[in-house]
Amino acid sequence: MTLPVSEDTGSLLEVYRPAGPVFVGGEGSRLIAEDGRRYLDFVSGIAVNALGYGDPAFDDAVRAALDTGLVHTSNLYRTVPGTELAAWLTERSFADRVFFCNSGAEANEGAFKFARRWSRERSRDKVEIVAFRGSFHGRTFGALAATDRSAFQEPFQPLMPGVRFLSVGDVGELGRVVSGEQTAAVIIEPILAEGGILPVPHEFLQSVREACDAAEALLIFDEVQVGLGRTGRLWAHDASGIEPDIMTLAKPLAGGLPMGAVLLTDRVASAIQPGDHATTFGGGPLVASAALAVCRKIGEPGFLEAVRRKGEVVSEMLGAIALANEKVVAVRGTGLLWGIELTVPAAEIVSAALDRQLLLVGAGPRVVRLVPPLTTTDEDLIEGVKILEGVLQA
Ligand SMILES: Cc1ncc(COP(=O)(O)O)c(C=O)c1O
Repeated sequence: MTLPVSEDTGSLLEVYRPAGPVFVGGEGSRLIAEDGRRYLDFVSGIAVNALGYGDPAFDDAVRAALDTGLVHTSNLYRTVPGTELAAWLTERSFADRVFFCNSGAEANEGAFKFARRWSRERSRDKVEIVAFRGSFHGRTFGALAATDRSAFQEPFQPLMPGVRFLSVGDVGELGRVVSGEQTAAVIIEPILAEGGILPVPHEFLQSVREACDAAEALLIFDEVQVGLGRTGRLWAHDASGIEPDIMTLAKPLAGGLPMGAVLLTDRVASAIQPGDHATTFGGGPLVASAALAVCRKIGEPGFLEAVRRKGEVVSEMLGAIALANEKVVAVRGTGLLWGIELTVPAAEIVSAALDRQLLLVGAGPRVVRLVPPLTTTDEDLIEGVKILEGVLQA
């Protein structure tokens, strides 16, 4: 069978429906299309381009890495940037060890394997993964099995068996399902991002932590989208004071180059033996150098405070829009991660905003998501939210 080839996507497989403009450049928090139009970007490559476009420190780090001539070595050999990046991440988190990979889905696959390995090492042989309704963890077979979207799952059954879904907030169900007999791990996003920017109440995260401890199951935080400064804290879970055993990262980690990471405690890492897991590209010197530039920038004094302060500017403006506009059901978010729940399809607002040169993305059918670069200026934030206000009024 020949696949249909459209004029828009040429020979690319049509799993995406790209919007009109073709982008050829970027500057700050704007993307430049081939017709010269400039678009204010509140998508950031889906929460990836934390430093926006053309950040001098990021660009210099990538150029310097290229100048060494060492793009890739494989993990048969050691390189300096990966080791330094792992140290940066462990010094600033609950974790003692890091496994680098290439995407969010791959990070979650690794987390599931490490959880099963840990359980097996303790002669428990527990394999079940508990996930939550509204969650998104990726599109590979294991990550998809833990993603609560039947439309994404059904065409590809059977997926990885042994995943059960619970409702966020239902402590009774949590107690019944997370079991010392079956549960290897519980995976949760501290803020359900693709699910509509739904923050998980801190008391519930605490209950999940306690349920895991009682059942000798591991707690995995998926911070692929909400980690590394997006919420105005280095880790989204910092606001709750609750720590996981494993955390997965990806999107912003290497500032737009593909990179994921699984962070784990020594307690879990002690179960993992050489040869248990691997990936050819993970943590190579080019991506790790890019990631070090991102991490160092986010770690600069005042950076996270600035994200929190900008979040307050956005919060105030969106709050006023919500009061004045009947299309807005709710506004949720923190830092530079915002969701606006609407009475109308999010796609309509995203498309109308594109016509006004503002890039937005949905998070579920009726939530418009704002995830601008963390470096977006106050002026650009205000301009973008005003464009959105105009679109909602139209
Ligand atoms: C919370 C979360 N986990 C995992 C993923 C999957 O990441 P990737 O697309 O890099 O595989 C995503 C992507 O949106 C995500 O938001």
